[in-house]
Amino acid sequence: MPQIITSEEDPLELSCDALVVGAFEGSDGPQLSTVGVALDERLGGALSEALLAEGFKAKRGTSSLIATLGRVPAGTIAVAGLGAKDAVDPSSVRRAAGAVAKRLSERTEVVAVLDEGYGDAGSAAQVEGYLLGSYRYEKISSRDDTPERTTRVLVHGSAASVERGIAYAEATNRARDLVNDPPDRLTPKAFAARAKNVADIGGLACKILDEVELANGGFGGILAVAAGSAEPPRLVELNYDPPGATGRVTIIGKGVTYDSGGLSIKSAAGMQNMKTDMGGGAAVIGAMSVLAKLGTLVAVRALIPMTENMIGPAAMRVDDVIVHYGGRTTEMNNADAEGRLILADTIALASEEPSDAMVDIATLTGHMVVGLGDKIGGLFANDSDLMDELKAAGDLAGEDLWPMPLYEGYEKHLDSQVADQKSAGKREGGGISAALFIQRFVGTGIPWAHLDIAGPGRADAPHDLGPKGGTGFGTRTLLEWIEARGR
Ligand code: BES
Ligand code: MN
Ligand code: ZN
Repeated sequence: MPQIITSEEDPLELSCDALVVGAFEGSDGPQLSTVGVALDERLGGALSEALLAEGFKAKRGTSSLIATLGRVPAGTIAVAGLGAKDAVDPSSVRRAAGAVAKRLSERTEVVAVLDEGYGDAGSAAQVEGYLLGSYRYEKISSRDDTPERTTRVLVHGSAASVERGIAYAEATNRARDLVNDPPDRLTPKAFAARAKNVADIGGLACKILDEVELANGGFGGILAVAAGSAEPPRLVELNYDPPGATGRVTIIGKGVTYDSGGLSIKSAAGMQNMKTDMGGGAAVIGAMSVLAKLGTLVAVRALIPMTENMIGPAAMRVDDVIVHYGGRTTEMNNADAEGRLILADTIALASEEPSDAMVDIATLTGHMVVGLGDKIGGLFANDSDLMDELKAAGDLAGEDLWPMPLYEGYEKHLDSQVADQKSAGKREGGGISAALFIQRFVGTGIPWAHLDIAGPGRADAPHDLGPKGGTGFGTRTLLEWIEARGR
């Protein structure tokens, strides 16, 4: 990962491999930022000429690399497109920094000045974008051919904003690593051990319930899902308890380390990438890992149920009745609707402790992928303030969430002849009935929100802020939301 260093020096005077400046999309060609204009003057207008000759438009996410041929101390100028000037916000800065970081991955000394005029949020976003764009999963390979390269990135901006950007990116990239790890390595046990590790470095208390404790505790949903697997389940609890906390929230993440669909087995194509079914849990762990570093004032309790959903002689049967933690019963009518079963137990447990708000995050339904695509997460809430808070947090984080209804009319889709409810409703509105199902386990009076990140939890192609694979989606939204509640 690049090393980020703050500097107050004139970027034009710094000798480096690449100097990154911003440009806006204008009606008559690209419009350089303040530093860009100064640089252009120094070069006698050669920079703007080069951009014009290339037909560079400064659209969001595009960039142009121009060799300086020794006319300024920087070897290359990287012009990053920020899009139309009146629409620029920290998200554009983040994306531009990410896109340019990918193009400059071979450079060792980079000076980046994209944040001008956007204050602390802009410099944090620049740092965040640079680190997210630089993310790579370290391959499991017999060859150890990863080149040893440390890139130093010099940025302007207050130390605090830079630290914040680093923390947000570090949290996201930690979640990405967890999601990208193969499921034979990241078993529920290994996932729990990784969470413990994060707790140790992140100054958190950690408690792990194993399969025996889960059985004794009556966690019927988690046990039913784990029953078909040779790997025992875990329930991980992480606690961040700052002295003089101004509030207390609970975050819960789905941690299915592999979802084969169980006896309602998925198709060969549908099973691909189902190692990413712990993306919600990864986002929760990633966010928790930097709370102490950020000095967050809110106490946060995190719960992550971890299990595989496999086929085996003891696998839960379609038609089984499950008794959840707390006693509610579910007729299990589709073994591939496993996420809600483990969330149900966990939410019931979480509801026993007082908390100002509860948020769960899960790669819960394919319906949400069909409805919102792979860039937007579905946002459900039983409280409109909480809905607004999370929507705003997502906007700041550059993670788009769309409000979805907890439509009462679909409650009847969950009616069961043999238990309190069925696990899976109809195909139509399936993302909504999944949310309605887990809502039933939320304690009375607790503001609760549910993020269905089945789409954006994984990227099928490289994007401005990272490569194909786990995105860590939700990590930064959780952080923005938690931090905002502490202000
Ligand atoms: N893990 C899947 C949801 C999913 C689908 C995540 C695609 C990422 C990409 C979940 O456990 C699941 O299988 N859901 C079923 C529910 C259905 C059986 C009611 C689905 O969406 O089809
Ligand atoms: Mn499933
Ligand atoms: Zn699943």
